[in-house]
Amino acid sequence: MEGSAAVEDRPGEHEALPIASFDDPHLQPYARDPKRAERLIAVLFVLGILGVIGYGAVFWQGGQTQLEGGFLGGGLFFIGFGLSAWGKYLLPQGPFVESRHPMSSPEPDREAMASAVVDRGKMVFRRRGFLGTLLGAGMGVFGIVATFPLIRSLGPKPGNALDTTNWKKGSRLVTMDGRPVSVHDLEVGGSLTVFPEGYTDSIRAEATDQTILVRAAASSIVTQPGRETWGPAGYLAYSKVCTHAGCPVGLYMEQTQQLLCPCHQSLFDVLDGAAPVFGPAPRPLPQLPLYVDAHGWLRAQAPYDQPVGPGFWERS
Ligand code: FES
Repeated sequence: MEGSAAVEDRPGEHEALPIASFDDPHLQPYARDPKRAERLIAVLFVLGILGVIGYGAVFWQGGQTQLEGGFLGGGLFFIGFGLSAWGKYLLPQGPFVESRHPMSSPEPDREAMASAVVDRGKMVFRRRGFLGTLLGAGMGVFGIVATFPLIRSLGPKPGNALDTTNWKKGSRLVTMDGRPVSVHDLEVGGSLTVFPEGYTDSIRAEATDQTILVRAAASSIVTQPGRETWGPAGYLAYSKVCTHAGCPVGLYMEQTQQLLCPCHQSLFDVLDGAAPVFGPAPRPLPQLPLYVDAHGWLRAQAPYDQPVGPGFWERS
């Protein structure tokens, strides 16, 4: 109680505090010529915006690492330089000394001070509305351009590329270098990776067309009911794209008549329609129906009768 009595006795405690006016030298910008400084900062912001736009344009056109780095680095440099210059040359430099009572002020005084500070702050920034607009534009452009890597990294739309292949009725089987495969090319126990003729250079050749051809016997093989004519002269062709996660099923083991996927060791029974017998693969490898034409070339009777590859491709 003694303390509060002492506070009440302080002279001038409840008198209103003076508020600095705009003419206060401490609130004046550091720059001798604020208009000139404003113009220079505007130029820096514009250069920054052009740099960011340049980065976005190069990235959108396919990208070139050095150019992208130069444009983005330059853009951010000029925007940052402009911000620093704005703070240094156009904002009040102080030092700020606030007159205040030794103890906390009464509530009305504090509210008056808070609103005065807010209003003054707004006015100080409002005076540089043009620079604020430019800065906002720079940030906006940067935000938009920053989404380019994300958008372009998504790559082209897959369309129905994962549902179909380039295999068609009558497609001749060829090796990677385009050489047609004849019925005499493989010994029993041999295997070969084949593609539809005319498509060895396409991206889809590796993605979905790749097919493993094995010769499992000297005479025709029926792997499933309804596939009586699909395996002429012991030749069987299966999609090479694993139905688990899409790895190439590369190894034909003649003794067990199985195909092995090296990624997670799924095994497929060659003589049973490539049904999975071990590992995580959930379904058989699709079989390509074959026939031998009048000249002895191996050809596809029809396209694959189902999408190749992992199950999630079908649901895309
Ligand atoms: S991708 Fe073939 S077993 Fe996993």
